[in-house]
Amino acid sequence: MADDKKPTELLKDEHQGVLQKLAALQRVIGQLDNKDEISAELKELAEFFKTEFWIHFTKEEEALFPEIGTFIPRESGPTGMMLVEHEELRSTNTVIQQAVDAYLRNSGGSDVKGTIQENGNRFIEVLRQHIDKEDNILFMMADMHFDQAQIDKVARLFHEIETR
Ligand SMILES: [Fe+2]
Repeated sequence: MADDKKPTELLKDEHQGVLQKLAALQRVIGQLDNKDEISAELKELAEFFKTEFWIHFTKEEEALFPEIGTFIPRESGPTGMMLVEHEELRSTNTVIQQAVDAYLRNSGGSDVKGTIQENGNRFIEVLRQHIDKEDNILFMMADMHFDQAQIDKVARLFHEIETR
């Protein structure tokens, strides 16, 4: 796909979309008592965080981070920290998905709303901070260090991941 934007710019654009979904998620999980009104939106948001959202993480994990790893070691550097946060977000999301499923099927018992709220708020908080660190620290480092060949390589991998 011909695109003049750098890979880091594309990821930043995706972050803006994700932040909007997080704001919607925050609003919806504050209204779990109004099930009839929020079910459709909750279902749609859960679907986004179950599927489409992970393509973004895959682009970072398989394309961008390894290239950053050519000048900052993964173990001690910021990409290692980002990967740990990705794992935390993955496991929190799994809990949210199960609880939302149960909530929508009316099978969760009395604590299902609490599970959605507790884990949802954690997910929102961790992901917002995570995006902030990527946008303002990690991507800036990539922009400073990448040469054109690296930019082209990451862009090509992004395209491969998207068309998989
Ligand atoms: Fe990201």
